[in-house]
Amino acid sequence: MVTAQKDVTVERSLLERVSEARRRSDELFEIVRSDAIYARPIRERHRIIFYVGHLEAFDWNLLHENVFGLKSFHPEFDRLFAFGIDPVGGGLPSDQPSEWPSLAAVRDYVRKIRAALDGKLESGEAGGRMRDGFSLETLLDVAIEHRLMHVETLAYMLHQLPLQQKVPQVVTPLSSASPIVHSMIEIPAGKVTLGLSRESGVFGWDNEFEKHSALVPGFEIDRYMVTNGQFLDFIADGGYKTAGFWSEDDWNWKEGQNISHPVFWKKADDRWMYQTMFAEVPLPMDWPVYVSHAEAAAYARWAGKGLPTEEQWQRAAYGAADGAERFYPWGEEAPNESLGNFDLQSWDPAPVNAFPKGRSAFGVEGMVGNGWEWTATLFGPFPGFEPFPFYRGYSADFFDGKHFVMKGGSARTAACMLRPTFRNWFQGHYQYVYAGFRCVNP
Ligand SMILES: [Fe+2]
Repeated sequence: MVTAQKDVTVERSLLERVSEARRRSDELFEIVRSDAIYARPIRERHRIIFYVGHLEAFDWNLLHENVFGLKSFHPEFDRLFAFGIDPVGGGLPSDQPSEWPSLAAVRDYVRKIRAALDGKLESGEAGGRMRDGFSLETLLDVAIEHRLMHVETLAYMLHQLPLQQKVPQVVTPLSSASPIVHSMIEIPAGKVTLGLSRESGVFGWDNEFEKHSALVPGFEIDRYMVTNGQFLDFIADGGYKTAGFWSEDDWNWKEGQNISHPVFWKKADDRWMYQTMFAEVPLPMDWPVYVSHAEAAAYARWAGKGLPTEEQWQRAAYGAADGAERFYPWGEEAPNESLGNFDLQSWDPAPVNAFPKGRSAFGVEGMVGNGWEWTATLFGPFPGFEPFPFYRGYSADFFDGKHFVMKGGSARTAACMLRPTFRNWFQGHYQYVYAGFRCVNP
């Protein structure tokens, strides 16, 4: 239902964030050569063409009728491009390129949606509109972050596209850092705060509410994320060939899929190479290893350690010895390029010790950026969880005991999602995420 409107405009800064997010997603599609737009770089995912239409269809379906009273001009595309995280039923999609509309038709759909929505957003009568009790401002935050999340997950997908199907972009030179001295840091017992309060007025997704606290017993955590070099030791020690390091389910998955190394690694003759976004390079030993949860858990068992729980991770990142809690591991300063590898500055990881200024109060380094970090915690609702009525499945569809919480962020995570309450999640057998881990001694 369209609610009565006041004659107020949407804040300019919010409209600028909408344009900036669109610019980011447009730029990403530009790295795909035009003859590859119907490719499917990851077999579980849609073809690239789907995402060209999806980002606009999402915004349109969220806003056009329920907020602005606009009529659909292409209901078939609204449905075709509506959903796209995981194919239903766990099977692999089998659609053919010929079943999809032409790129020109999809681009035309995108243009018309932007024009129609912008006409309303800039009309001076948009502010004050609501949907299901949520303000237009909140809905725009949903649209912006939804798009920026896809800008990141599409980067994982395009990472797997053969190099000859991509238009290379400017790549910042690989950062170098001093030799790494691995150690563990003791985190004393203490209280940790999780989640957002509904009264705070701060934007968060449904799974970030409600605010609560927990007492975390003392533990030790790795100062740095586990590196490719460390993971190589696990492989050399028969890590992928020893059932005892794996849960039964993880072992069966690994055997069934014939997996013997991280998906970003390639063996050339007897040398390990690494597939970056736009090149193949000798394995960078000091970069964080990107692996599935199953591989991370196996490594941790081999090392005689474990993966941190979400609460342990949160305490190591944001807690301090005096009981205070910070907004970012390094303090209150807004994210910038001296503090970590995030906010789409780089296409690739950096050495795990490249950002000492970003360390937490306890001295743990690189917790935000440079790769999400797997936790041992299954993704579930916080006490007081309520799904967004306009996107009921966003989180609740994944409270299934198969998805694990990831924290932190990667090089391709936008700064707005580096807030401490943001929770990411993936199923434990998905290797393509920019996600690594660090270990704890409980
Ligand atoms: Fe989506």
